[in-house]
Amino acid sequence: MTRRGGRDNGAMNDASAQRAAELRAQLNHHAHLYYVLDAPELPDAAYDQLFQELQALEAAHPELLTADSPTQRVIGKVLPGLTPVRHVVPMLSITTETDTTEGGAIAFDARVRRELGLAEADPPVEYAAELKFDGLAMNLRYEQGVLVQAATRGDGETGEDVTQNVRTIGQIPLRLKGQAPEVLEVRGEVYMRRDDFEKLNERQREKGEKTFVNPRNTAAGAIRQLDPALVRQRPLCFYAYGLGEVQGWDVPATHSGLLDALAALGLPVNADRTVAIGPSGLVQFHQAMAAKRDSLPFDIDGVVYKVNSRELQARLGFKTREPRWAVAHKYPAQEQVTTLLAIDVQVGRTGKLTPVARLDPVFVGGTTVSNATLHNVFEMRRKGVRVGDQVIIRRAGDVIPEVVGRVPGARPAYVPNFHMPRECPVCKSAAVREKRGIEYRCTGGVFCPAQRKQALLHFAGRRAMDIEGLGDKLVEQLVDAGIVQSLPGLYKLGVAKLAALDRMAEKSAQNIVDALEKSKTPTLARFLFSLGIRQVGETTAKDLARHFGSLDKLMNASVEQLLEVSDVGPIVAASIHTFFAQPHNREVVEQLLAAGVQPQESSGEADDRPRPLLGKTLVLTGTLPTLTRDEAQALIEDAGGKVSGSVSKKTSYVIAGEEAGSKLEKARTLGVPVLDEDGLKALLAG
Ligand code: IVH
Repeated sequence: MTRRGGRDNGAMNDASAQRAAELRAQLNHHAHLYYVLDAPELPDAAYDQLFQELQALEAAHPELLTADSPTQRVIGKVLPGLTPVRHVVPMLSITTETDTTEGGAIAFDARVRRELGLAEADPPVEYAAELKFDGLAMNLRYEQGVLVQAATRGDGETGEDVTQNVRTIGQIPLRLKGQAPEVLEVRGEVYMRRDDFEKLNERQREKGEKTFVNPRNTAAGAIRQLDPALVRQRPLCFYAYGLGEVQGWDVPATHSGLLDALAALGLPVNADRTVAIGPSGLVQFHQAMAAKRDSLPFDIDGVVYKVNSRELQARLGFKTREPRWAVAHKYPAQEQVTTLLAIDVQVGRTGKLTPVARLDPVFVGGTTVSNATLHNVFEMRRKGVRVGDQVIIRRAGDVIPEVVGRVPGARPAYVPNFHMPRECPVCKSAAVREKRGIEYRCTGGVFCPAQRKQALLHFAGRRAMDIEGLGDKLVEQLVDAGIVQSLPGLYKLGVAKLAALDRMAEKSAQNIVDALEKSKTPTLARFLFSLGIRQVGETTAKDLARHFGSLDKLMNASVEQLLEVSDVGPIVAASIHTFFAQPHNREVVEQLLAAGVQPQESSGEADDRPRPLLGKTLVLTGTLPTLTRDEAQALIEDAGGKVSGSVSKKTSYVIAGEEAGSKLEKARTLGVPVLDEDGLKALLAG
């Protein structure tokens, strides 16, 4: 680093000084929005870019460094209204390895070896590798085993007392299990599960209210609420990953041992962790977790490597505010900024019209995204997005990429406001407004090619008729070429007709014909689900199949008879009745049967098996050790039980696995019995 910018001329320095001042102002503004108001306007990646630009400027021109530069302090303020807590042991941050390739892991290991003075011939270093949870850091103080205080990180020296709010997190034990140390401060991350976040936003959307940006900010906002009753409405979770002050406890000699010990004390510790040997072990973990990232129930922004031996940790020590023995190795950000090029309207299976953003392609959450949902026109208005804007895109897990907001800034003077069309953009049928104007729907039904395509895709889906190979490209071609007009038309497809299509080899055509043949004996429940009757999801389809036993009985059921099915209310009953009252729908069913489709009706002899779970409702939460969710559900239903998505007083049992979240918490609050997989198996065995 050069001391003074001797090579630069005055004009250049003026420009740099101006840019530095601009960056400082922007960063301070965004830091305030982020840390104090929990209302960020920029995704982290964009903030980091500005931050790095300022850092680089200050490095090149040290005379530009000011005391108030955001690069010179750890941000985080105590919110007025919350009591400050001084951390006995400061809450440090961690060096970030931004190289998202395996190079990041290798660079860290090389640094550790150098700092330990290890030679090439010395054995590899052992690391504890774990997930980097994307939430907010929390210090839990237990005295004689009792939770006495919970505090946020704040600026690392002083945080905020949020004990009352943390007490609402069911996963956090109020008293530790077993022999409790005199003082034990446990550090970890408070976070919100993705499904809880989605549900929260779905509720906000239905109410026409403001949606939240991401699970992390929602969790941070919730934990710093002044009213614990409001916190309760935002289900939060916790994972422990470290220690603060300790008195009267033999701290295990390794970090992995420490995590085991914390788990034994009753604290939630994530199972996706390992002891990695040398850089190759780190790289392996990084890759394995990258592959798993989308299917995790919560957001992570990377993995963390820690030198496993505490003795080596002590030898490595700290550099200013960060330990030399740990590093965060990041994954591609789940939020990015890009340009909104256009707004299109997409037609769903049931005719719902959704505004979709066409984007300047952007790499986000590990893939390139060029379309993202804008949900509905109300939400769009509230977010104030218009064509030409810089918008923030979020893509996390298997959730559809969405536009979460716009980056404030200049926009061209004349951008017309977006309006939903009065007619279907595909079939030109009239569009009607529903749900107090929040939703628009095409009235074209099966005459609308867009709805037809979606209906065919739904019919062929894995959970419906499971026709392998019938994906969106093929359906697109079949409908556009007028080859398939309706569901039964699929079964008229022959190898010759398919092979004549673009990019379709004889072999693939044969595979599709075989898959169609194989699909002809679905369960009655799958068949019902595949018809795409509004309000009839998988669970309702199963209930209907079980109740009526035959397709014929169901098709001819009155609304009153439909209402006798458990969990079928007036809206669902009316929807089913209306569906089968329409001659064209009955015709579709008849043609399917004529084409050789034979739903496996379940009435009669198959039904005298023992049904130990008859009349019981179970809720599954978390990951079970051997059964997948689908398998567990199938076993429960075979035994006569029902699986519900939410816990209530009527729930008979909650079956909880790893990473069980708010449902487990709710079960405990309501006193619903909680079982593990073995407990479930015992129930099934009667
Ligand atoms: S260890 C001395 N482990 O990432 C090391 N941090 O700056 C202290 N985080 O604020 C941190 N997952 O909130 C550690 N497995 C993990 C973590 C983790 C998430 C957060 C933590 C901290 C930030 C790193």
